[in-house]
Amino acid sequence: TESRIALARSARVATVDRRLFGSFVEHLGRCVYDGIYEPGHPTANEDGFRLDVVDLVRELGTTTVRYPGGNFVSGFRWEDSVGPRDQRPVRRDLAWHSLESNQVGLDEFARWLKLTGSELMLAVNLGTRGIQEALDLLEYANHPSGTALSDQRIANGTPEPHDIRMWCLGNEMDGPWQTGYMTADDYGKLAARTAAAMKTADKDLQLVVCGSSGSGMPTFGEWERIVLEHSYEHVDYISAHAYYQERGGDLGSFLASSVDMQYFIDTVVSTADHVGNRLRSRKRIQVSFDEWNIWYLDEHKESGEVGDEWRYAPRLLEDVYSVADAVVLGNLLITLLKNHDRVTSASLAQLVNVIAPIMTEPGGDAWRQTTFFPFSVTSRLAAGEVLRPTIATGTYETAVYGEADLVDAVATFDEATGSAALFVVNRSTTETQTVRVDVRDLGVDRVREAVSLWDDDVYAKNTLHDQTRVGLRPTPEATLADGELTLTLPPVSWTAVSLS
Ligand code: AHR
Repeated sequence: TESRIALARSARVATVDRRLFGSFVEHLGRCVYDGIYEPGHPTANEDGFRLDVVDLVRELGTTTVRYPGGNFVSGFRWEDSVGPRDQRPVRRDLAWHSLESNQVGLDEFARWLKLTGSELMLAVNLGTRGIQEALDLLEYANHPSGTALSDQRIANGTPEPHDIRMWCLGNEMDGPWQTGYMTADDYGKLAARTAAAMKTADKDLQLVVCGSSGSGMPTFGEWERIVLEHSYEHVDYISAHAYYQERGGDLGSFLASSVDMQYFIDTVVSTADHVGNRLRSRKRIQVSFDEWNIWYLDEHKESGEVGDEWRYAPRLLEDVYSVADAVVLGNLLITLLKNHDRVTSASLAQLVNVIAPIMTEPGGDAWRQTTFFPFSVTSRLAAGEVLRPTIATGTYETAVYGEADLVDAVATFDEATGSAALFVVNRSTTETQTVRVDVRDLGVDRVREAVSLWDDDVYAKNTLHDQTRVGLRPTPEATLADGELTLTLPPVSWTAVSLS
């Protein structure tokens, strides 16, 4: 079957902000310990960080990294994780029923971020703690010197302030699983007061208030309205979290997961604007999609892997991703780009070992999951302005979302270099798609790169014993003539094309 796409410079969404390619490192399972940090590993540096993992993170192209949680942050005492390592206490982490050694904390993590060239996005604990502890952490992290907590940071070996700009006001406070979870009213008040106090210390902070943990939450929409009615003037972003998985062998619905992400964004944006209009505010709240990914959550719940034992860095949430998962992930990134006028920050959850694009073995290898590829290529090629394409394509019937488009796409165009990039998926499980793209308005005449991800086995995966089973392949056909790009897209595939 055939689809048509038209690209026009005037269909501008927003300028690409690198913060859209953020990620997330939580003290959960083997994300930190035996993930980014493993002192005995042959590639470890003097801080104990694995440099083979650092190389993969750089290749992945992540920008902002959210830290240290997640559910973990809602019981976390930040003071435990700074200062001399041999004096740091071991604590119980109730969120993941694990032991936390606190051997990696803010100062170490900031050093790791420098190796990867990323920006820190820090979460404060509003589950078991409040305004004072958030202010203390802000002082420790950002105040230059001459106060009790900034001098403590300097004495701990970090003379320069971390200068953290983005701060999360707690995590998923709408979820009953969250330590100290609250009603929207209670949380909205606490978040507003905390935000106001933090901005008294530094008016240029960018603060993220908690939105919903998923579009299926019973309070979805209402939560955003109430929380923003309290906090609107003090915050800059509202968070969105969404995880998708294939259920009951329904691949068609799974491939259309972006339909839910679009509904999520539309609901949050219209709710935020409604509150803003009622408050007669000219300010607009941005969406921080600071947890998004594929996560086989149902299976994890059934297996009961978060058990009764108290263990250090247990193997938790170690999903192994398929080609189909990677195609959906690529499509979710397309959706984030299409909404980039309002979604200006996002974090793939998570980065290493825990629902992650990068996997490691203790003392052994680090390798790329299937989902690594669409993320790294999109991060590398998306530049300049996001363009919303006009797409004429067929539809297919899904059990969950009704009729869904067979082809979805987004493009970017960089005026400065005259180069463009197109990201496109074919969601059909059976049919190859021929896609004709009208690129005359962009003045490009050359295909610089055309790569795809597909496989005869849509459930093929990369594993410890077969680390390169799935990878990028040249797109079967990508030709440009007379202002028309012709692409041949296999069933269940993700493709990126770079043009100049
Ligand atoms: O990313 C895994 C978990 O998912 C996070 O800790 C939590 O915020 C969300 O429920």
